[in-house]
Amino acid sequence: MSIAKGIQESMTRGSWIRKMFEEGIKLKQIHGEFNVYDYTLGNPYVDPPKAFFDALETVVHERKRLAHGYMQNSGFPETRQRVADELSKDTGRKYGIDNIIMTVGAAGAMNVAFKSILEPGDEVVVVAPYFPEYNFYINNHQGVRVTSLAKDDFLPDIADLDRKIGPKTKALIINSPCNPSGVLVPKDVLLELAALLERKNAEYGKIIYLMSDEPYRKLVFDGQKAETPASFYDHTLIGTSHSKDLSLAGERIGYLAINPDTPAAKDLFAAATFCNRILGFVNAPALMQRVLQALPSFESPVALYQAKRDVLFNGLKDIGYDVRCPEGTFFMFPKSPLPNDLDFIEVLRRHRVLVSPGTGFEFPGYFRLSFAVDDRIIENSLPAFKEAFREVQ
Ligand SMILES: Cc1ncc(COP(=O)(O)O)c(C=O)c1O
Repeated sequence: MSIAKGIQESMTRGSWIRKMFEEGIKLKQIHGEFNVYDYTLGNPYVDPPKAFFDALETVVHERKRLAHGYMQNSGFPETRQRVADELSKDTGRKYGIDNIIMTVGAAGAMNVAFKSILEPGDEVVVVAPYFPEYNFYINNHQGVRVTSLAKDDFLPDIADLDRKIGPKTKALIINSPCNPSGVLVPKDVLLELAALLERKNAEYGKIIYLMSDEPYRKLVFDGQKAETPASFYDHTLIGTSHSKDLSLAGERIGYLAINPDTPAAKDLFAAATFCNRILGFVNAPALMQRVLQALPSFESPVALYQAKRDVLFNGLKDIGYDVRCPEGTFFMFPKSPLPNDLDFIEVLRRHRVLVSPGTGFEFPGYFRLSFAVDDRIIENSLPAFKEAFREVQ
């Protein structure tokens, strides 16, 4: 066979996503766009902010030498300085340009980080439910995924993590607010996590990195603020992007931030810069780096997503769904009224509601809705959610 076995298997396992996508296209052709309630895609709903287009316009007209050429593989120093200043404000740490590597999205940041730190067979602990692409990012660099199930409130279970983190653990991934649950990990839990990791580091005489996947950190509702674990744990690597908070998912602009207080910070920066190159990214897109420099502020469409969340959450709650109100992201993760989430998503599909099964997030019994959709989809879908719910009572 021409295709590598591992890739063939991964593609087959992920084929329900494609099936759902194709089903959506087919149903929309028959019933019309607003009569098919497609909650599967995690693509930002709104356009980027006006400030982005203004900055883009400015940058497009600049005629600077090598503005579109190769640069240091870590990115333009001015862009990295901008990121470092912002992170220093957010965390109380002293980030400098040599702690920041501009990357091809958050996915690029995590791949660069894992390529830099993982030996074959090293374990990376993830908290389920989690973004399923982590499996590939870990596997790409010969790591082994170890799952710790979150508690009923979707927060990390510290006692379970204590059991799962062992001598082979190289990293733990935390994603707050979380895709798919929308849960924000509060400061006291982050402090508990930091204490647990410090204890494990002492026990095993090594450093376990906390990979903080933060593309939704600015998409937080009700005036809350998402803390980054980088404030509390010296060995935190932040992987993030502006895919979601500035709706720039297709522009592939993000960064990896190495905590300045971790002892190997300098070596990690050199390794990650090198890995950015050899993974074939070379550097993050030049134009987008310069747009970030030119942006006066980073405003996220929080109010818009919060309004969508409120209509969908209240609607589902009124019908009788068991659902936790998401504190951030644009995802909601209700409990399936049938024990098998795959059975229930089939019932929903018959009512033209397309959702992703919790099984795909290693958390069966739930389903994920992305409310980055038009308000009409939310309004029109509620009767369908109701009929599906009644059908299975
Ligand atoms: C939790 C999480 N992490 C990482 C990513 C990847 O982000 P990016 O598109 O910036 O690579 C996504 C994208 O959906 C995500 O939901």
